[in-house]
Amino acid sequence: MWKTRRVVMTLGMLGIVTAVSIWEVGSATSQDKTSPPKADSKKKAPEAPQNVELTNFMRKKLEASAEILEGLTAEDSKLIIKGARALVEMSNAEKWKVRNDVMYRQFSGEFQRSAQSLLEAAEKENYDAAALKWIDTTMKCLECHKFVRGMRLARGNS
Ligand code: HEC
Repeated sequence: MWKTRRVVMTLGMLGIVTAVSIWEVGSATSQDKTSPPKADSKKKAPEAPQNVELTNFMRKKLEASAEILEGLTAEDSKLIIKGARALVEMSNAEKWKVRNDVMYRQFSGEFQRSAQSLLEAAEKENYDAAALKWIDTTMKCLECHKFVRGMRLARGNS
């Protein structure tokens, strides 16, 4: 009697474990299949803003970053300066301030300082320093985006 109960329970547990793992594998693969590359590139941003104008504004950061990278690879200080200046100016703009909490302001401030020192390094044609500052600035992009994503998760909306 005891033995059969144990066997039944063990089988039951095994069943649950198998079901859960099948479900996990299933959802992982269906996720792979259902997410087209377009959705993936959207995922990098903290959120897809409803506002097209704001999206375009935000996406200009990518253009500026690409210009900076191009300038660094070609040791073209003018191109680095152009991109860095765009980033500094953007981070001053009203549109940038989509949030008004202390943390967002702090991330914005750190980003701006970093972009500013990148600009200064480029003006001195110090390419090694500019390369390091560019990496630093890029890390600030990622840090702020991570923060914004985390806030969204905490609030439970996406
Ligand atoms: C201080 C915070 C902060 C920093 C720093 C920051 N971003 Fe963003 N970024 C945002 C926020 C907030 C949004 C989304 C706006 C929204 O969804 O309302 C965004 C959106 C974007 C988008 C998405 C636009 C779209 O298609 O929806 C891109 C691309 C982007 N940022 C690139 C960058 C790059 C590149 C950098 C660094 C050069 C950077 N960001 C630095 C806060 C930041």
